[in-house]
Amino acid sequence: TDLHRFIKALPKAELHLHIEGSLEPEQMFELAQRNNVTLPYGSVEDIRKAYDFNNLQEFLDLYYAGMSVLQTQQDFYDLTYAYLKRVHADNCRHVEIFFDPQGHTDRGIAFSDVIEGILDALAQGQTDFGISSHLILSFLRHLSEEAAFETLAQAEPYLDRIMGVGLDSSELGHPPSKFERVFAKAREMGLKLFAHAGEEGPPEYVYEALDLLKVDRIDHGNRSLEDDDLVKRLVDEQMVLTVCPLSNLKLCVVDDLTDHPLKTMLAMGLKATVNSDDPSYFGGYLNDNYIQTADALNLTQEEIVQLVKNGFEGAYLSPDRATELM
Ligand code: ADE
Ligand code: ZN
Repeated sequence: TDLHRFIKALPKAELHLHIEGSLEPEQMFELAQRNNVTLPYGSVEDIRKAYDFNNLQEFLDLYYAGMSVLQTQQDFYDLTYAYLKRVHADNCRHVEIFFDPQGHTDRGIAFSDVIEGILDALAQGQTDFGISSHLILSFLRHLSEEAAFETLAQAEPYLDRIMGVGLDSSELGHPPSKFERVFAKAREMGLKLFAHAGEEGPPEYVYEALDLLKVDRIDHGNRSLEDDDLVKRLVDEQMVLTVCPLSNLKLCVVDDLTDHPLKTMLAMGLKATVNSDDPSYFGGYLNDNYIQTADALNLTQEEIVQLVKNGFEGAYLSPDRATELM
């Protein structure tokens, strides 16, 4: 349709993307072979069939299992380069991607192999596709505060190439307050601060992310809509929400895309953006998220433009890059 063409033609930014969640089944097989890893799947079709989730944890179990094929610096390079090539086709011009180092270091992979593979691919993506990028180190919230501090220490040699820290993995039972001190340390180190909050967790977790972690963006934030005072505050502060519609559908945060709160969020004045989260697991990259949501919610061109604009405004673009893109 015309609206689909309109969406595809717009230059866009992606602010909520886990690089390990862009591992496609085909690449999972290829890397398993290359590294002699045995997968619990017989075929690419078997993998796709297994991607049927009732909640966040069911996804996370397969997401961490899938990581087992990522072993060498080259693997992390290939993973990241494939993602950039794919979103270049979606006319994506700027990305801010999460990586989960603890998902790898806990398997005996060197932190340096993980981050250097990713960073080399990001540099090549700038050269080959003109995509600007930032890297965000995300802590796994089901692990301890101490483990997060150890991970932050491993990042010290790379601080000039890490834009911020994030908080992801199993939300319920692991409130932001658990990581108040490590976020304070990251803030002192000059890093930007992000946290998944209000995906499955209650509005209280969003308050904690704001008040205790002092985040610069909220990842997801859907359940904020249950609390009118919280909505008012997020609007007043123009806090960016990195919303992920197809992720919300696949993880049963919403029952149907027609029930997705994105249009309501915009109507309320919330600074919502559209992102893919873990595109390989949730069945769609950036344009798929825009297009399927636009169709389900009858988004107007003006609403699409607002979402895209929010993406660039919510990004941490260099002044020169901002002039080019905005
Ligand atoms: N890790 C990767 N994707 C995630 C998500 N949507 N929520 C929490 N942790 C994640
Ligand atoms: Zn996420």
